[in-house]
Amino acid sequence: MCGIVGYVGSREAQPLLLDSLKRLEYRGYDSSGLAVVGASLQLFKSEGEIAVLEGKMPRMQGSIGIAHTRWATQGKPTTVNAHPLTDCAGKIAIVHNGIISNFMELRESMTRDGHTFTSDTDSEVFAHLVESEYKGDLVQAVMKAVSRIEGTYAFAVVAEGRDEIVATRRESPLVVGLGDGENFIASDVTALLKYTNRMVYLEDAEVVKVTKASVTVFDASGNVVPKTAQKIMWNLDDAEKGGYPHFMLKEIFEQPTAIHDSLLGRIESLDTEPFFQGTPYSSVKIVACGTSYHAGLVGKYIIEELSKIPTTLQISSEYRYSPVSRENPLIVLITQSGETSDTLAAAREARKRGNKTIAIANVMGSAITREVDHVIYTRAGPEIGVAATKTFVTQLIALYILAMDLGTQNRTLSALAKRSVIGQLRNLPRAVQDVLNKSSEIEELAKKYASARDMFFIGRNINYPIAMEGALKTKEISYIHGEGFPAGELKHGPLALLSKDSPVVAIAAKDHTYEKMLANISEVSARGSPVIAIGYEGDTDLQKFADDVIYIREIPPLFSPVPIIVALQLWSYYLAKERGCAIDKPRNIAKTVTVE
Ligand code: M6R
Repeated sequence: MCGIVGYVGSREAQPLLLDSLKRLEYRGYDSSGLAVVGASLQLFKSEGEIAVLEGKMPRMQGSIGIAHTRWATQGKPTTVNAHPLTDCAGKIAIVHNGIISNFMELRESMTRDGHTFTSDTDSEVFAHLVESEYKGDLVQAVMKAVSRIEGTYAFAVVAEGRDEIVATRRESPLVVGLGDGENFIASDVTALLKYTNRMVYLEDAEVVKVTKASVTVFDASGNVVPKTAQKIMWNLDDAEKGGYPHFMLKEIFEQPTAIHDSLLGRIESLDTEPFFQGTPYSSVKIVACGTSYHAGLVGKYIIEELSKIPTTLQISSEYRYSPVSRENPLIVLITQSGETSDTLAAAREARKRGNKTIAIANVMGSAITREVDHVIYTRAGPEIGVAATKTFVTQLIALYILAMDLGTQNRTLSALAKRSVIGQLRNLPRAVQDVLNKSSEIEELAKKYASARDMFFIGRNINYPIAMEGALKTKEISYIHGEGFPAGELKHGPLALLSKDSPVVAIAAKDHTYEKMLANISEVSARGSPVIAIGYEGDTDLQKFADDVIYIREIPPLFSPVPIIVALQLWSYYLAKERGCAIDKPRNIAKTVTVE
């Protein structure tokens, strides 16, 4: 996720672009830059936050320009990789939000054709594609260039000597703002509301030519598409959250896209670009904290199922002080921020012990990425809400990919089984969307139970860690005391805590533990606790035992944690909302824990 803005009009573009860009900083903040068209094409960029750019940029004269704030997904967060990026001659500048999955082939073929690349980004290929297609008509050049791109994108392009911005999008957001004698483009309306509230939304593959006097939208075949402007009534705060009342809810709803982005171009290339060429591992140890640890607990089931490699876990703060074993496991460190001090210390300790290390991280260039041998980035984009949601789900995606890779290297995953896993992974965005479509239903149910003081979560097998994660989300944002248990453990203590005032959320996916789970639910019910079950559509047995049921579409057990945790994220969100809690900034906790 990155932020794009563009301006064409009669005012000086530079201050306006900078001001608008700041409103998009929540979309990414590891580097930023501007290109302004005046007498020539001027460009300035810098790594770091927008304030760093602002502090050192020279005056740029001109009333046409584009700007970008970056959340790195390909290429380190350096000045050289910051956008705008240019063609060989420095006459065409582009900004990009998205992922170009075929950039390697394009880059190789364009290098053979004589193009010189200056960055490590996927985005730069687009500047060179436009350069080679440009014959005096920028719209035509952009149309031809995008036809060669695979992946997701919102692009904006300016060129020296041209009084226009040409922009296009596919699966990444882009709006056009209409002014009087001036027009704008941006990744979202937040950036533009200070200047206009009249917006035109672009559909996938549409291309727009924006001048100070006109906005013309074309379809992919070059036909003009008539558009009606929409009036936006949001205030700035609403707009930054995309109209959602909290970042957490926005981030929950971003999960289908986050999963899609995390898979893009990766599963296809596992055979040709494995992570661990020729290195068969006999064991894996996952090290992490909090929600990332819960992702690791699910990861144990995934890795053992797909690669048959025994996998253990340890909390980061414990790993450092644990005795050195005789085994030499692959150490997988999971951390959204890449800055959690205990996980960083664990990474250093693992290397000291001579282990190979791999990090699953969301923030490109974060500290952990310099401490490990290999990184798998989750492509969730920035997560602002303290409660981890989309980063948890994309950590699971990274773990499926890692497990497939290990299974392939170890020859424990057949080609047929791998194809089936890939098919299931591709279905996940839809499975998650189905759950999101039930948000009002989940909200109604949460209202019914929001006054509880304690709430217990039970699951079995791969959904036992999901019960723990559901409990963590609930306690963290709603301040209801939540505990997650393997359902089989109930009789060994937790049953003593149950009463009519302690609702139990029971995960009852149809897997080999289902019958046992039904028995647990009836056991809980017999102790007088209300039961809210999460089960599969069409499972009429559940209604006989549970007080309420959240139904989700059936999915094979190995993939069930993904839609089920989304239901529990919504559940905890609506509990907290009903209780009037500070959802995005819960008391006493920080998004990133940089002290031990
Ligand atoms: O950045 P990390 O993934 O290393 O953070 C670890 C935990 O602090 C984090 O997952 C925390 O538990 C979440 N905020 C919970 O929602």
